[in-house]
Amino acid sequence: MRKLIAGMKISVDGKTEGSQGMADWVAAWSEDYGLTSRIDACLLGGGMYPGYEGYWSGIQNEPDKPHWITGEPPTPAEIEWARFAAQTPHYVLSSTLTSALWPKTRFVRKLDEVAALKRQSGKDIYLVGGARTTASLIDAGLVDELRLIVYPLIAGQGKELFKTSEHRRGLELRKVQQLDGGRLSLIYEMG
Ligand SMILES: NC(=O)c1ccc[n+]([C@@H]2O[C@H](COP(=O)([O-])OP(=O)(O)OC[C@H]3O[C@@H](n4cnc5c(N)ncnc54)[C@H](OP(=O)(O)O)[C@@H]3O)[C@@H](O)[C@H]2O)c1
Repeated sequence: MRKLIAGMKISVDGKTEGSQGMADWVAAWSEDYGLTSRIDACLLGGGMYPGYEGYWSGIQNEPDKPHWITGEPPTPAEIEWARFAAQTPHYVLSSTLTSALWPKTRFVRKLDEVAALKRQSGKDIYLVGGARTTASLIDAGLVDELRLIVYPLIAGQGKELFKTSEHRRGLELRKVQQLDGGRLSLIYEMG
Protein backbone atom coordinates (compact mmCIF):
# COMPACT_ATOMS: atom_id res chain seq x y z
CA MET A 1 0.00 0.00 0.00
CA ARG A 2 1.30 3.45 -0.91
CA LYS A 3 1.85 5.76 2.06
CA LEU A 4 0.13 9.13 2.29
CA ILE A 5 2.67 11.55 3.78
CA ALA A 6 1.62 15.01 4.95
CA GLY A 7 4.19 17.82 5.00
CA MET A 8 3.45 21.18 6.61
CA LYS A 9 5.49 24.24 7.58
CA ILE A 10 4.18 25.66 10.85
CA SER A 11 5.04 28.16 13.57
CA VAL A 12 5.72 27.01 17.14
CA ASP A 13 2.07 27.79 17.95
CA GLY A 14 0.90 25.55 15.13
CA LYS A 15 -0.13 28.17 12.57
CA THR A 16 0.08 27.39 8.85
CA GLU A 17 -0.45 31.01 7.92
CA GLY A 18 -0.55 34.40 9.64
CA SER A 19 -3.33 36.95 9.99
CA GLN A 20 -2.87 38.25 6.42
CA GLY A 21 -3.57 34.76 5.01
CA MET A 22 0.11 34.09 4.36
CA ALA A 23 2.98 32.45 6.23
CA ASP A 24 5.36 35.33 5.53
CA TRP A 25 7.95 33.76 7.84
CA VAL A 26 8.50 30.95 5.30
CA ALA A 27 11.29 32.08 2.97
CA ALA A 28 10.78 29.35 0.35
CA TRP A 29 7.93 26.93 -0.44
CA SER A 30 10.16 24.22 -1.88
CA GLU A 31 9.52 20.60 -0.90
CA ASP A 32 11.88 20.49 2.10
CA TYR A 33 10.64 17.25 3.68
CA GLY A 34 12.86 14.89 1.65
CA LEU A 35 9.90 13.45 -0.25
CA THR A 36 10.44 14.23 -3.94
CA SER A 37 12.35 11.04 -4.83
CA ARG A 38 9.84 8.75 -3.10
CA ILE A 39 6.55 10.16 -4.41
CA ASP A 40 4.79 10.10 -7.77
CA ALA A 41 1.55 11.87 -6.87
CA CYS A 42 0.35 14.82 -4.79
CA LEU A 43 -2.95 15.27 -2.97
CA LEU A 44 -4.28 18.63 -1.83
CA GLY A 45 -7.41 20.48 -0.81
CA GLY A 46 -9.63 22.54 -3.05
CA GLY A 47 -9.00 25.59 -0.84
CA MET A 48 -5.34 25.83 -1.76
CA TYR A 49 -5.27 24.28 -5.24
CA PRO A 50 -5.98 27.31 -7.48
CA GLY A 51 -3.36 29.48 -5.73
CA TYR A 52 -0.86 26.60 -5.65
CA GLU A 53 -1.22 25.88 -9.37
CA GLY A 54 -0.84 29.58 -10.21
CA TYR A 55 2.15 30.01 -7.90
CA TRP A 56 4.16 27.06 -9.29
CA SER A 57 3.16 27.76 -12.90
CA GLY A 58 4.43 31.32 -12.44
CA ILE A 59 7.80 30.06 -11.19
CA GLN A 60 8.07 27.50 -13.97
CA ASN A 61 7.24 30.05 -16.67
CA GLU A 62 9.39 32.87 -15.29
CA PRO A 63 12.08 31.38 -13.04
CA ASP A 64 14.10 34.62 -12.94
CA LYS A 65 11.23 36.84 -11.84
CA PRO A 66 10.96 37.80 -8.13
CA HIS A 67 7.82 36.20 -6.75
CA TRP A 68 5.17 38.23 -5.01
CA ILE A 69 5.44 36.59 -1.58
CA THR A 70 9.10 37.29 -0.81
CA GLY A 71 10.04 39.81 -3.50
CA GLU A 72 13.03 37.53 -4.24
CA PRO A 73 13.64 35.26 -7.24
CA PRO A 74 12.70 31.63 -6.56
CA THR A 75 15.38 29.42 -5.01
CA PRO A 76 16.89 26.52 -7.03
CA ALA A 77 14.85 24.10 -4.89
CA GLU A 78 11.64 25.99 -5.71
CA ILE A 79 12.45 25.88 -9.44
CA GLU A 80 13.05 22.14 -9.11
CA TRP A 81 9.68 21.65 -7.38
CA ALA A 82 7.90 23.82 -9.98
CA ARG A 83 9.17 21.48 -12.71
CA PHE A 84 8.40 18.32 -10.76
CA ALA A 85 4.90 19.48 -9.76
CA ALA A 86 3.84 20.44 -13.29
CA GLN A 87 4.54 16.90 -14.55
CA THR A 88 3.32 14.95 -11.51
CA PRO A 89 -0.33 13.87 -11.10
CA HIS A 90 -2.17 16.06 -8.58
CA TYR A 91 -5.39 14.88 -6.92
CA VAL A 92 -7.56 17.68 -5.54
CA LEU A 93 -10.09 16.92 -2.82
CA SER A 94 -13.06 19.17 -3.63
CA SER A 95 -16.80 18.98 -4.13
CA THR A 96 -16.90 22.31 -5.99
CA LEU A 97 -13.86 22.72 -8.28
CA THR A 98 -14.26 21.36 -11.79
CA SER A 99 -11.34 22.65 -13.85
CA ALA A 100 -7.59 22.93 -13.59
CA LEU A 101 -4.85 24.19 -15.88
CA TRP A 102 -2.46 21.30 -15.30
CA PRO A 103 -3.42 18.38 -17.55
CA LYS A 104 -2.47 15.79 -14.91
CA THR A 105 -4.80 17.20 -12.24
CA ARG A 106 -7.81 15.08 -11.22
CA PHE A 107 -10.60 15.87 -8.77
CA VAL A 108 -11.40 13.58 -5.87
CA ARG A 109 -14.92 13.97 -4.46
CA LYS A 110 -14.93 11.55 -1.52
CA LEU A 111 -12.53 10.11 1.02
CA ASP A 112 -13.19 6.60 -0.40
CA GLU A 113 -11.38 7.75 -3.52
CA VAL A 114 -8.34 8.71 -1.43
CA ALA A 115 -8.31 5.22 0.07
CA ALA A 116 -8.55 3.75 -3.45
CA LEU A 117 -5.65 5.93 -4.59
CA LYS A 118 -3.52 4.49 -1.79
CA ARG A 119 -4.36 0.95 -2.94
CA GLN A 120 -3.15 1.64 -6.49
CA SER A 121 0.39 0.60 -7.32
CA GLY A 122 3.01 3.32 -7.34
CA LYS A 123 5.27 5.36 -5.13
CA ASP A 124 4.08 7.22 -2.04
CA ILE A 125 1.72 10.22 -2.18
CA TYR A 126 2.58 13.68 -0.79
CA LEU A 127 -0.28 15.41 1.00
CA VAL A 128 0.58 19.05 0.34
CA GLY A 129 -2.16 20.64 2.51
CA GLY A 130 -3.95 22.81 3.39
CA ALA A 131 -4.84 22.73 7.03
CA ARG A 132 -8.46 21.57 6.75
CA THR A 133 -7.66 18.80 4.31
CA THR A 134 -4.73 17.55 6.36
CA ALA A 135 -6.79 17.54 9.58
CA SER A 136 -9.69 15.79 7.89
CA LEU A 137 -7.53 13.07 6.31
CA ILE A 138 -5.74 12.45 9.62
CA ASP A 139 -9.15 12.14 11.33
CA ALA A 140 -10.19 9.63 8.67
CA GLY A 141 -7.10 7.51 9.38
CA LEU A 142 -5.78 7.94 5.84
CA VAL A 143 -2.46 9.68 6.65
CA ASP A 144 0.51 7.42 7.43
CA GLU A 145 3.18 9.98 8.23
CA LEU A 146 3.26 13.63 9.29
CA ARG A 147 6.34 15.69 8.49
CA LEU A 148 6.49 19.12 10.11
CA ILE A 149 9.01 21.91 9.72
CA VAL A 150 8.61 24.14 12.77
CA TYR A 151 9.69 27.77 12.37
CA PRO A 152 11.04 29.59 15.43
CA LEU A 153 8.25 32.05 16.04
CA ILE A 154 4.90 32.42 17.75
CA ALA A 155 2.68 33.65 14.94
CA GLY A 156 -0.23 34.70 17.14
CA GLN A 157 -3.22 35.30 14.87
CA GLY A 158 -3.61 32.96 11.92
CA LYS A 159 -4.84 29.60 10.72
CA GLU A 160 -4.18 26.63 13.01
CA LEU A 161 -3.13 23.36 11.44
CA PHE A 162 -5.32 21.25 13.72
CA LYS A 163 -8.21 23.66 14.37
CA THR A 164 -10.74 21.38 12.69
CA SER A 165 -9.34 18.07 14.04
CA GLU A 166 -12.06 16.07 15.76
CA HIS A 167 -10.20 13.09 17.20
CA ARG A 168 -7.31 12.59 19.59
CA ARG A 169 -4.48 10.65 17.96
CA GLY A 170 -1.12 9.46 19.25
CA LEU A 171 2.00 9.95 17.15
CA GLU A 172 5.28 8.07 17.09
CA LEU A 173 8.33 10.27 16.70
CA ARG A 174 10.66 8.78 14.07
CA LYS A 175 13.22 11.54 13.41
CA VAL A 176 14.20 14.99 14.67
CA GLN A 177 16.63 17.23 12.85
CA GLN A 178 17.71 20.82 13.39
CA LEU A 179 17.66 22.83 10.15
CA ASP A 180 19.20 26.21 9.35
CA GLY A 181 17.50 29.36 10.59
CA GLY A 182 16.47 27.70 13.86
CA ARG A 183 13.93 25.46 12.12
CA LEU A 184 13.16 21.98 13.34
CA SER A 185 12.22 19.01 11.16
CA LEU A 186 9.96 16.45 12.86
CA ILE A 187 8.86 13.17 11.32
CA TYR A 188 5.97 11.34 13.00
CA GLU A 189 4.36 8.06 12.11
CA MET A 190 0.67 7.95 12.88
CA GLY A 191 0.06 5.82 15.97
N1 LIG B 1 2.14 26.15 5.94
C1 LIG B 1 2.08 25.20 5.04
O1 LIG B 1 2.95 24.32 4.96
C2 LIG B 1 0.93 25.16 4.08
C3 LIG B 1 0.82 24.06 3.22
C4 LIG B 1 -0.26 24.04 2.37
C5 LIG B 1 -1.20 25.08 2.34
N2 LIG B 1 -1.03 26.13 3.18
C6 LIG B 1 -2.03 27.22 3.17
O2 LIG B 1 -3.28 26.68 3.55
C7 LIG B 1 -4.33 27.45 2.96
C8 LIG B 1 -5.43 26.52 2.46
O3 LIG B 1 -5.87 25.69 3.53
P1 LIG B 1 -7.40 25.53 3.90
O4 LIG B 1 -7.45 24.77 5.17
O5 LIG B 1 -8.07 26.87 3.84
O6 LIG B 1 -8.01 24.75 2.67
P2 LIG B 1 -7.64 23.32 2.02
O7 LIG B 1 -7.37 22.31 3.08
O8 LIG B 1 -6.63 23.52 0.94
O9 LIG B 1 -9.01 22.99 1.27
C9 LIG B 1 -10.23 22.79 1.97
C10 LIG B 1 -11.22 22.27 0.93
O10 LIG B 1 -10.86 20.96 0.54
C11 LIG B 1 -12.01 20.18 0.35
N3 LIG B 1 -12.02 19.14 1.41
C12 LIG B 1 -11.24 19.08 2.49
N4 LIG B 1 -11.53 17.96 3.23
C13 LIG B 1 -12.50 17.34 2.56
C14 LIG B 1 -13.21 16.15 2.80
N5 LIG B 1 -12.99 15.39 3.89
N6 LIG B 1 -14.15 15.77 1.92
C15 LIG B 1 -14.39 16.53 0.82
N7 LIG B 1 -13.72 17.67 0.53
C16 LIG B 1 -12.81 18.07 1.40
C17 LIG B 1 -13.18 21.14 0.48
O11 LIG B 1 -13.34 21.71 -0.81
P3 LIG B 1 -14.79 22.08 -1.44
O12 LIG B 1 -15.30 23.21 -0.59
O13 LIG B 1 -14.48 22.47 -2.86
O14 LIG B 1 -15.62 20.85 -1.33
C18 LIG B 1 -12.65 22.18 1.44
O15 LIG B 1 -13.30 23.41 1.32
C19 LIG B 1 -3.69 28.26 1.84
O16 LIG B 1 -3.72 29.62 2.22
C20 LIG B 1 -2.25 27.77 1.77
O17 LIG B 1 -1.35 28.79 1.51
C21 LIG B 1 0.01 26.19 4.06
